[in-house]
Amino acid sequence: MNFLPTGICLYLLSVAVCWMTAKVDASWWYMGTLGSQVMCDNIPGLVNKQRQLCRQHPKVMQAIGAGMSDWISECQHQFRNHRWNCNTTGRDHNLFGRLLLRGSREVAFVYAISSAGVVHTLARACSQGELDSCSCDPTKKGSSWDQKGSFDWGGCSDHVEHAIRFSQGFVDAKERQERDARALMNLQNNRAGRKAVKRFMTLECKCHGVSGSCSVRTCWLAMADFRRTGDHLRRRYNGAVQVAVNQYGTGFTGAQARFKRPSKNELVYLEDSPDYCVRDPQTGSMGTVGRLCNRTSRSTDSCEVMCCGRGYDTARVSRTTKCECKFHWCCAVRCRDCHQEVDVHSCKAQT
Ligand SMILES: *[C@@H]1O[C@H](CO)[C@@H](O)[C@H](O)[C@H]1NC(C)=O
Ligand SMILES: *[C@@H]1O[C@H](CO)[C@@H](O)[C@H](O)[C@H]1NC(C)=O
Repeated sequence: MNFLPTGICLYLLSVAVCWMTAKVDASWWYMGTLGSQVMCDNIPGLVNKQRQLCRQHPKVMQAIGAGMSDWISECQHQFRNHRWNCNTTGRDHNLFGRLLLRGSREVAFVYAISSAGVVHTLARACSQGELDSCSCDPTKKGSSWDQKGSFDWGGCSDHVEHAIRFSQGFVDAKERQERDARALMNLQNNRAGRKAVKRFMTLECKCHGVSGSCSVRTCWLAMADFRRTGDHLRRRYNGAVQVAVNQYGTGFTGAQARFKRPSKNELVYLEDSPDYCVRDPQTGSMGTVGRLCNRTSRSTDSCEVMCCGRGYDTARVSRTTKCECKFHWCCAVRCRDCHQEVDVHSCKAQT
């Protein structure tokens, strides 16, 4: 098992000289690699509270572990055109290795989307009856009303409140033990992530009544697709606020003079990001060598930006696409396979 050192020590003349580095394991992430074999005692770095919850709710832990691939791929989708692409190391139990040592904007996003992922996963698992400890939201019963008039609660409303409470207790447990800048940063981003899921609950309804007159409606509150949460947190990443922590360690102050305290929905970070151009194990940067880039784009996926000025290689590859699709009566669409030669560009290594 791969533990990150919490400090680096040099032993000189039997005197240890140590530089403490930030504690970085958000070790519940390790559960994703265990599949259905979650064994609470084998997960390195869970704090007592987490271990306890893990033992009490093995099925919940399995669900959280299984749901990890969803938020990781959402993270990778959101950052596919960026130098940092949310690639995991697949080796360290904390998934992102030394990236997490720095309280950067990217780390803020990772905490937010992972905690949002837990809420989404749990609420979904509850609705689908996979867990003994929860089901549909029991408060959504009887009748209620919206702009269109009154309706009856029916079906299954996602029990997001329950999922938020549980994930807060579990995910935040580690940070609640600490009182440093990094813990405050993580807590804020975890909470912003949870709130982002709740934001996109929508009322879904079914009409009843004579010939679809919709004189009677039954409705339930459902979470939106996780993409909505991902898009939202991506915008929050763009607007993330750089903070420092006040002298009492209880709240944020600004790095700038004109500082507005971040709202509960905002992502916060402490330190500037590395440029992610070259592979650097010290910062967890994987570099952009070999990454695909877009020659005509003017955005972050352009070859200039993506390759950090090192230049790119071009290869001609053939692609097969469906084309000349025709509708045949009835009912089929038939297409031809078209071959197309396209140029793909990828970033060069350092020369
Ligand atoms: C992610 O990192 C691994 C090595 O750590 C590498 O093999 C893989 O190609 C990377 N994927 C992307 C999309 O950058
Ligand atoms: C490259 O960027 C241009 C401009 O943004 C866009 O129209 C095009 O679809 C992109 N090409 C690829 C292969 O993504």
